[in-house]
Amino acid sequence: MVILLFSCQTTPVTQSQTTTTATPTATPTTAQTPANFPRVASVNSEATLPAQLPPLPYAFGALEKAIDAQTMQLHHDRHHAAYVNNLNEAIKQSPDLQNRSVESLLRDLNSVPENIRNTVRNNGGGHLNHTIFWQIMSPNGGGQPTGEIAQEINQTFGSFDGFRKQFNSAGGDRFGSGWVWLVRNPQGQLQIVSTPNQDSPIMDGNYPIMGNDVWEHAYYLRYQNRRAEYLDNWWNVVNWAEVNRRAQASQQRS
Ligand SMILES: [Fe+2]
Repeated sequence: MVILLFSCQTTPVTQSQTTTTATPTATPTTAQTPANFPRVASVNSEATLPAQLPPLPYAFGALEKAIDAQTMQLHHDRHHAAYVNNLNEAIKQSPDLQNRSVESLLRDLNSVPENIRNTVRNNGGGHLNHTIFWQIMSPNGGGQPTGEIAQEINQTFGSFDGFRKQFNSAGGDRFGSGWVWLVRNPQGQLQIVSTPNQDSPIMDGNYPIMGNDVWEHAYYLRYQNRRAEYLDNWWNVVNWAEVNRRAQASQQRS
């Protein structure tokens, strides 16, 4: 049973099941195209292929305020590593795909051969999502939001508390495995969305600013079935400096 709980396997999905849970109030702008989409894996670069497991930017036990060391080790060294290996294995027979970024594959899954499309979707998404996840947490994180994102959160969601409640609620409502995100949508608005399995927000044209992993492998050792407690504690490690960098990058669409 334990093996099942921590499995990386996903249920194939045939279409995006992103759930929108908050209606932003900002004024819409012109929809964006992938050609002018900002870089996603980090604000400096996209996730190149063959994929590589990025080193964790802190010790396994550094996020104890929210996540225990063993979970971090398994999550990074086993789960994320498996997504990287599975993705590389899938594209081994398609050299033309290896010159592209993970982001470009996920934005245009129809360009990926059908026999590996779901594998690329699940494992490419898993690689990209986790790459972002490690960066937007920090041992020195937590507290109130800082910088421009603090102001934009207040404008869009009324207050940080209101935002946090909506975000946690979306994460709690995700049935099974998936993610909860703060994104900038194609209209330029902040929005809370949830994606199933390892689907990336970029598959819907949304830029992921910050996201929390609500797969059981992210919290089960310490929290067991108490996902709500994990969601609450997770705010103690949010890296607001990096969230601000990503929020700023998300606006750099030409
Ligand atoms: Fe995960």
